[in-house]
Amino acid sequence: MTSQRFALPTLLVVLCACLVENLSVEENFASGLNVSLPEPRAYIPDAHLLDFVYHNHEEMTRFLRATSARYPNLTALYSIGKSVQGRDLWVMVVSASPYEHMLGKPDVKYVANIHGNEAVGRELMLHLIQYFVTSYTTDPYIKWLLDNTRIHILPSLNPDGFAVSKEGTCDGGQGRYNARGFDLNRNFPDYFKQNNKRGQPETDAVKEWISKIQFSLSGSLHGGALVASYPYDNTPNSMFQSYASSPSLTPDDDIFRHLSLTYASNHAKMSRGVACKTSSPSFENGITNGAAWYPLTGGMQDYNYIWYGCMEVTLEVSCCKYPPAHELRKYWDDNQLSLVKFLAEVHRGVQGFVTDMSGTPIEKASLKIKGRDVGFQTTRYGEFWRILLPGVYKLEVYADGYIPRDVDFMVVDQHPTLLNVTMQPAKGYHMYNLLKTTTTTTTPRTPPSSKDSSDIIMFPE
Ligand SMILES: *[C@@H]1O[C@H](CO)[C@@H](O)[C@H](O)[C@H]1NC(C)=O
Ligand SMILES: *[C@@H]1O[C@H](CO)[C@@H](O)[C@H](O)[C@H]1NC(C)=O
Ligand SMILES: *[C@@H]1O[C@H](CO)[C@@H](O)[C@H](O)[C@H]1NC(C)=O
Ligand SMILES: [Zn+2]
Repeated sequence: MTSQRFALPTLLVVLCACLVENLSVEENFASGLNVSLPEPRAYIPDAHLLDFVYHNHEEMTRFLRATSARYPNLTALYSIGKSVQGRDLWVMVVSASPYEHMLGKPDVKYVANIHGNEAVGRELMLHLIQYFVTSYTTDPYIKWLLDNTRIHILPSLNPDGFAVSKEGTCDGGQGRYNARGFDLNRNFPDYFKQNNKRGQPETDAVKEWISKIQFSLSGSLHGGALVASYPYDNTPNSMFQSYASSPSLTPDDDIFRHLSLTYASNHAKMSRGVACKTSSPSFENGITNGAAWYPLTGGMQDYNYIWYGCMEVTLEVSCCKYPPAHELRKYWDDNQLSLVKFLAEVHRGVQGFVTDMSGTPIEKASLKIKGRDVGFQTTRYGEFWRILLPGVYKLEVYADGYIPRDVDFMVVDQHPTLLNVTMQPAKGYHMYNLLKTTTTTTTPRTPPSSKDSSDIIMFPE
């Protein structure tokens, strides 16, 4: 059912290969969360470049093309496929390295407008792009973020639905679905239940996209509520819960709550947890478990997490799904800091490389944080990332043909823990060599660019 889960073979109880070294903070710590940087500065919009109005598909395409032409060193535009009606599903990468993955540095994403009539996120994404490119040279926080992260922004996963949605319509389903009437956020393979919905071009494109680029953190933008909602969305027993929903918690519940709180508490209003209407729920601190709100099958966030180890949170950013354009500026002001701070959280936890004895990266090694039964894998360069709160953990590493490893490590608040794991071949195994693990707190050196860019831009524009 899932490709990511793995059963660890009984681990050999070997000499504890745990080296939790004294952590020393390096002067020049570039990739940590706490970089003693001032908060990101407010955006100064330039109406000539991007106004606070809704942009139809052609206008959005023009803006994205113009921006990628104007900022070739910071942006790359690509399409992951086309909608049912043939509209491109544009993704803008914003990063100091837009065309190439930066070795050791994570890729993150935002996906908006999955429901075509939930329009605020779509415009927020365009302004976020504009904010990033215009702040890179003037704002140290944004520079740090773009220097250390590749940010992929998909402003509209459902451009066909958007095209038939009506400005000023706060509720209802017109434009929610794709052009064949499918709800795209019910169209992914599901961990708990069989999902018989036929895959749609839009969701097939996402599936292929996230199978090629390993994303560590993701936000999915919606409207119609004001809350950050985290996995699981589905539950093993939802058919018995038509009246009262109950939480369906992941083994990473602490992380998901933290990520959701990061969004909600940096938002102007979300964390107050005020109900959108008297008939709708109020959410304590502006966050909720997805299934506790209402269970659903085939959602995108559970798929990201279970299949690819990507921590995705659903961000409901407006009570009104498609508010009048004159309110867009206010939505931007309310969400600006949240949108930036949420992505920065990818630089919390543990990251590193899994290699063999000769230093060759091991691709698709299976990793698990002990006690957290949802696994993740290394990239083709042997890299891994996992967001974790401060504490002491054990990393379980399993790769075909190698002796499984258990590595203890510590996570602190100030910066990510770098952890390189060396694997010993299963044959010719000597206990002595199992100790070849390093835990350090230094930043990886500036990486060489990878020659192989096939995982980077699928359809460059
Ligand atoms: C950043 O880290 C330093 C110690 O490395 C600590 O004194 C300081 O309080 C931290 N700042 C924030 C904002 O977390
Ligand atoms: C892009 O970067 C290159 C090399 O660093 C530099 O020569 C060029 O001027 C930059 N272009 C822009 C538009 O900033
Ligand atoms: C970890 O491994 C990577 C890739 O092999 C290497 O570039 C980096 O220097 C290593 N870091 C440490 C602290 O050993
Ligand atoms: Zn929605």
